[in-house]
Amino acid sequence: MIFLTEKVNYKNRQKLVRGFLCHWKKLSVLDVLITNSTAIRCHRALELALWAPNHKMTCPWAFYDIGLETRQKLVSLAIDLKKLKTPDLSDAMEFSLRGKLESVSHMIMIGLKLCDDDFQLREDYATVSCGVQNMSLYLHDQGYGSKWSTGGFTRHEKAYEILEVNPAKVEIVGAFLVGCIDKSQELRVPPRPDSQETIHCLP
Ligand SMILES: Cc1cc2nc3c(=O)[nH]c(=O)nc-3n(C[C@H](O)[C@H](O)[C@H](O)COP(=O)(O)O)c2cc1C
Repeated sequence: MIFLTEKVNYKNRQKLVRGFLCHWKKLSVLDVLITNSTAIRCHRALELALWAPNHKMTCPWAFYDIGLETRQKLVSLAIDLKKLKTPDLSDAMEFSLRGKLESVSHMIMIGLKLCDDDFQLREDYATVSCGVQNMSLYLHDQGYGSKWSTGGFTRHEKAYEILEVNPAKVEIVGAFLVGCIDKSQELRVPPRPDSQETIHCLP
């Protein structure tokens, strides 16, 4: 069992998630009973991603559920890239980076199917993002933490080779990391702007 280093504001998220799930008719009590392993929950999360709003049903998602062998290759790539950027990378820093990527229970690479139309591509990216949020909220409700990361290793050409993804057809837009939350650590809650500053009420 491994832990995410990121902290989650449980109480606030829980309220949001509950509100969200009330309207989620696809979720039933049965889901809770049968999904007693992280893998099953991750796959359920991936199914729920597909219920994101999607203009013209372009279905732009391509998810890659990364097995241990592939993960090792991605971790090595991440470390190689870090060493290129920081030639005097200490063992402790390497250990920390390795730990972050190896300790999560699941790594899912998020792919966006490419198209020629700029406007559609923008909307498709929005759909993929909404799907990731569905996954995140569901997993949070199930007691798991998750994080969307666009670290260098997710964008490098070698990542495409490792994943056997054609970059002309699919863009890897990040890694989705899933793990148990280390509740012994203090929750870090990045501040959000005051809603009054972002909501503009017009007559
Ligand atoms: C497209 C996208 C890419 C992100 N990439 C990274 C990243 O590479 N590294 C990182 O630490 N956080 C990244 N984040 C932010 C985290 O996923 C997460 O939102 C952040 O740690 C705040 O945590 P919270 O949402 O639980 O408050 C990214 C978020 C998005 C939407």
